[in-house]
Amino acid sequence: MKDIQLQTNIKGLIGEIKIPGDKSISHRSVMFGAIAHGETKVTNFLLGEDCLSTISCFRKLGVTISVKGNELQIIGKGFEGLNEPNELLDVGNSGTTIRLLMGILAGRPFFNSLIGDKSIGKRPMTRVTNPLKQMGAQIDGRENGAYTPLSLRGGNLKSFTYELPVASAQVKSALILAGLQAKGETTLIEQAETRDHTERMIRKFGGEIEKDNLTIRVKGGQQLKAATIHVPGDISSAAFFLVAGVIVEGSEITLRNVGLNPTRTGIIEVMQAMGADIQIHVQDESSFEPVGDIVIKTSKLKGTVVQGEIIPRLIDEIPIIALLATQAEGITIIKDAEELKVKETNRIDTVVNELNKLGASIEATDDGMIIHGKSELKGGKVSSHGDHRIGMMLAIASLLCKEEVILENPEAISVSYPNFFDHLDSLIK
Ligand code: S3P
Repeated sequence: MKDIQLQTNIKGLIGEIKIPGDKSISHRSVMFGAIAHGETKVTNFLLGEDCLSTISCFRKLGVTISVKGNELQIIGKGFEGLNEPNELLDVGNSGTTIRLLMGILAGRPFFNSLIGDKSIGKRPMTRVTNPLKQMGAQIDGRENGAYTPLSLRGGNLKSFTYELPVASAQVKSALILAGLQAKGETTLIEQAETRDHTERMIRKFGGEIEKDNLTIRVKGGQQLKAATIHVPGDISSAAFFLVAGVIVEGSEITLRNVGLNPTRTGIIEVMQAMGADIQIHVQDESSFEPVGDIVIKTSKLKGTVVQGEIIPRLIDEIPIIALLATQAEGITIIKDAEELKVKETNRIDTVVNELNKLGASIEATDDGMIIHGKSELKGGKVSSHGDHRIGMMLAIASLLCKEEVILENPEAISVSYPNFFDHLDSLIK
């Protein structure tokens, strides 16, 4: 796609949108459907590029997956139903696909070659490959298995006790998926709580997993049974409209069907601390993933500090929180967020450079950023740098800009939110 001119200087955002399916849960629904026994049905699946990469990899492993609109049918034959692929497994731009897939393949006694796009080629894989090698998988790759392309031959895994060196749901999930195939019980100790969709999904598929604070225990050799999964809306996608509704004068937006899993709602806590007018109507707290509607209105904001245990609960929302902070009175400090450097782009650099081009005043730090508010945003030429969340954040920033804004590389947005611009256009007054 060519560069696009973004909407600027708008008068308000009014209306309601139904938030598309959660990316993390959509990936896991395919993976669990594939490793369970029987026919899994998934509704409200996210048809973003990343989740399509997951479907494509599992088809290459011999799993029958049919897609009709946003509904999937997956015929699972257990871990042992996966077959040696005769093609490369290409994960595209998706870190979740490659890391969780390696956890599954670590227990399979066959050869795999894994590749991805340029951005995947820069993302660290030793956080997953090192512990999987300790469990018994044979993994090699560029720079001793640190980066793609990677080769993996699994089988005969040993269980272990492992303290995760990073707060990462991707690493935790990969090791749980390997643990399900290992002899004995695997114990994982997290540094901080991260999204728990994998744990919830194991239970939904009839398996058992124990959780005691930051310690997780999972037994190998469990047989999972097919399930029916309704994917809730992605709070990480809703985040762009949550922030837009607060910072654009004269706005009131209702967001329907938003996943409200407490391991993902850090952004709501931060917005409330900054003074945002947010009303939450929880529909179903008891279901496998809690869901609700959110109503948001233009609000006066003040700066805050975002740090510590909340960081993993809002890690993907930091780009849009940075934009929010440019519209708050005073200083906002984001720290303990060095993980931003190893996302689809180095998100400390891309957020700071791109928003400053538009007139914001943000300093990069080693583990986050310092944002001086309130800034008047002007205009200019900005780039997503191939990072979906940077592209969407800039499209929301442009709504406040007085002059023309051109976005380079807008196609990256289809990774997680293919109809983002349709939703945005439907709200503009
Ligand atoms: C994800 C976990 C997070 C997040 C990513 C999706 C997942 O990564 O940034 O977008 O689905 O498990 P880390 O767990 O590596 O921080």
